[in-house]
Amino acid sequence: MLFGKSTGLKGKDLINIHDMNKDQINALLDRAAKMESCDKKKLDGKMMANLFFEPSTRTRLSFEAAMKRMGGEVIGFDHVDSTSLKKGESFKDTIKMVDQYADVIVIRHPSEGSAKDAAEISKVPVINAGDGSNQHPTQTLVDLYTIRKEKKKIEGLTIGFLGDLKFGRTVHSLATAAAEFDCNLVFISPQELRLSDAFLNGLGQKGVKYEVTNDLMRVADQLDVLYVTRIQKERFEDEEKYNQLAGSYKINKAMLSSFKPSVLVMHPLPRVDEIAEDVDDTKNQAYFKQAANAVAVRKAILAEVFGL
Ligand code: NCD
Repeated sequence: MLFGKSTGLKGKDLINIHDMNKDQINALLDRAAKMESCDKKKLDGKMMANLFFEPSTRTRLSFEAAMKRMGGEVIGFDHVDSTSLKKGESFKDTIKMVDQYADVIVIRHPSEGSAKDAAEISKVPVINAGDGSNQHPTQTLVDLYTIRKEKKKIEGLTIGFLGDLKFGRTVHSLATAAAEFDCNLVFISPQELRLSDAFLNGLGQKGVKYEVTNDLMRVADQLDVLYVTRIQKERFEDEEKYNQLAGSYKINKAMLSSFKPSVLVMHPLPRVDEIAEDVDDTKNQAYFKQAANAVAVRKAILAEVFGL
């Protein structure tokens, strides 16, 4: 092993952030830091399949950039219309085909549990790049990497999650991991977009310190990190309901005076209108840093899965 502690990812699937404990996450973040400026072509001859059944910009392209920067190759699709799924081929047959063409599969799909299903079918490791509202573990590693880099620690921070906590998979993954780091969690959303009772009970059973509110300004000065999310329009059955909630929260530069001067404003992106552009040039902005960090973190994930 090149690096002190193991990430446990060698030859394994990464489906849920639960698949990694705190030590393994820290080992992955250490490796990502070392890989920021390292472009050794260690994945020469390896093939990654990017199977994107849902739209993506950052996740798909940063995985692709990571693989190619390490000398590997990439195949895949970015929408279903160009595949034989359109002709009625099953998900199972699709995965059975792809695992013969690639050494690792990265998958994004609108159904919860689809990445796990793919992993059960596939002979090669499967990395979950987002399954419905459920999980987005590699985004969480990017988020934790960014927090650690900017704040010099993760432990004990107070993280406010703002927005669509019900449907936001990045929230579910990051809140789960942040709980392992003894963070204080503050969940801020309209009533309709709250986390499920089951999720909150799970945190409570683990003794996690959390608060639920719809009043951002009441908790603003407590937060070390404000993690803003987009309302997940595509998950709403009723468009009318979405329209009622759209625009119900928006962060702008003037509001930042109510927060700690050092608050980190994060967002997995894409943003719609939850963060005004005047926040972009403030010292608090961290969302473009997250996007930039995505390549180093995904290089580290791929290197670890390939056992390098
Ligand atoms: C998020 C996603 O797809 O879950 N984006 C991302 O991967 N960076 C967030 C979102 O779509 O709102």
